[in-house]
Amino acid sequence: MSETRVFNTDRRIRLGIWGLGRGMSFFKTCAALNIDVVAGCDYNEDLRRGFVEKNPGAFVTADEEEFLAQDMDAVLVATYATAHADHAIKCLRAGKHVLSEVPAFFTPTEGVRLVEAVEETGLVYQLAENYPFSAVNRYLARKYREGLFGKIIYAEFSYLHETLRLTYTYLNGQPVEPGHTVHTWRSWLNSHYYCTHSLGPVMVITGARPVRVVALPGRNRIPGHITPAGLTKGPIGASLICMSDGAVVRNLMGHTTDDTNIQRIFGTRGSAGIDGDGLWLRLGGGGRSPKARVEPAMDELDVLARDAGHKGGDFWVLYHFARELLYGEKGPFDVYRAADVTLPGIFAYRSARDNGLPYDIPDFRKKGERDKFRGDDWHQESYDVRTAFPPGADVSQASDFTSVMKDLIKHARIVRAFVDWMNVAGQVREEGFLYKEVVEPLLSEIDDLPSTYARARRIVGAYPESDAARALLELLELGEEDLVLSGELRRQVEEKARELGRVSPSDTGEEE
Ligand SMILES: NC(=O)c1ccc[n+]([C@@H]2O[C@H](COP(=O)([O-])OP(=O)(O)OC[C@H]3O[C@@H](n4cnc5c(N)ncnc54)[C@H](O)[C@@H]3O)[C@@H](O)[C@H]2O)c1
Repeated sequence: MSETRVFNTDRRIRLGIWGLGRGMSFFKTCAALNIDVVAGCDYNEDLRRGFVEKNPGAFVTADEEEFLAQDMDAVLVATYATAHADHAIKCLRAGKHVLSEVPAFFTPTEGVRLVEAVEETGLVYQLAENYPFSAVNRYLARKYREGLFGKIIYAEFSYLHETLRLTYTYLNGQPVEPGHTVHTWRSWLNSHYYCTHSLGPVMVITGARPVRVVALPGRNRIPGHITPAGLTKGPIGASLICMSDGAVVRNLMGHTTDDTNIQRIFGTRGSAGIDGDGLWLRLGGGGRSPKARVEPAMDELDVLARDAGHKGGDFWVLYHFARELLYGEKGPFDVYRAADVTLPGIFAYRSARDNGLPYDIPDFRKKGERDKFRGDDWHQESYDVRTAFPPGADVSQASDFTSVMKDLIKHARIVRAFVDWMNVAGQVREEGFLYKEVVEPLLSEIDDLPSTYARARRIVGAYPESDAARALLELLELGEEDLVLSGELRRQVEEKARELGRVSPSDTGEEE
């Protein structure tokens, strides 16, 4: 990618990356887009080390003031999801253009301040919403503009990404440190706030903006969340949104037991959908009109983009940003569109809190509407990440909590998969599935299960009233603690392996 030339100019952009976790996903793509990464900033020492290894000679620091004092044209803000507005404003005030990770802001008042900082400084601001720019979504946007679907009547978009593990680990799988605490925002942020990956695509396809939202509260969630029940992380985030073009969109986010992102648009002339097998179209204007799968043709840049993350989306956000800096051509998510795509999450959460009260989505292009929200700092209450264990408790026996959680999530789930798939084993049609996906993963971990469960029990015993104990107990129940500790699970899985004609590790005589 670094040898390919996309823009026909020798001008370069000096970029700093603030937040070196997700922020570094863009690193590889930069060179091809005339971007030199000249500085990085992160509190985390490992991430700073990784940054310098990839980018020797670049400046790196944990100190944001020192970082912002560097000679850079622009900053990629990839810090905590709830801190983007403050950090973006700080960069703008320091004279840097901004590409901000999603969401753009956490409260309406922050949104007002962000819009006005962009207007006052005249600098470029773009939101790095990447999901609209997968090859299929770009194709749908082109076809929508050509009129293939007519007007959209209704659409369903989802971003289902179960990230329980990220309550207890960083993106790279390292357990959160200190081990008795949990992730700064991934441990508690309600899914409604993360609404841009599903709403963004429909906004880009049709060009419409959201105008009204409603959501109902759900109470149930998968086991293992650290926050007490309620509208925190865990329950489904489903909202209905009226768009400015008259369409209704169901926007679905959350941590569920199925991460398939199904997408459907129903137009006045035709329909389209994306499911696990790709894209289909139904064209002809009727409910039973001809339907077939299609494969969008790729242009040269699509092919280049394919190697970047998120089905090409990461390439395109960087491309749009660089293009505006080099040529002044606007990107799809300027600060107003960033507000359009962020506000429905804030108001959907508020609607669910108010048991389904609908909310209008203000248009922050208009100062009069901004004035109404200038002082509106209402937001989800955050979870104090130091309180997984009771405040004031001696946490010396809890220092491995996040690493236990990481192991227990994995182990409880492979046990659950075995127990439940055995229940329906006779009906499985896919040959080889049971051994490869269910039996083998359990066999490979079976020796480690008792110690993971015992480590979990030790923490539960030491701090029985804590949020940590509740989360651990939920997972021990999911993971059939009695079955594991009695040795019965081992007997069952080895028997199943023999039945399926495979040799289990203990049959080889290599164990112990
Ligand atoms: N668009 C996408 O597909 C996508 C994918 C992953 C993450 N994201 C977004 O990117 C952002 C970052 O994601 P992540 O998983 O790396 O999150 P994270 O919270 O694990 O990482 C944020 C990083 O920023 C650093 N940081 C925060 N404030 C800082 C400060 N003031 N000074 C120095 N360092 C600071 C932290 O040390 C941390 O390493 C999130 O907002 C997330 O929503 C987007």
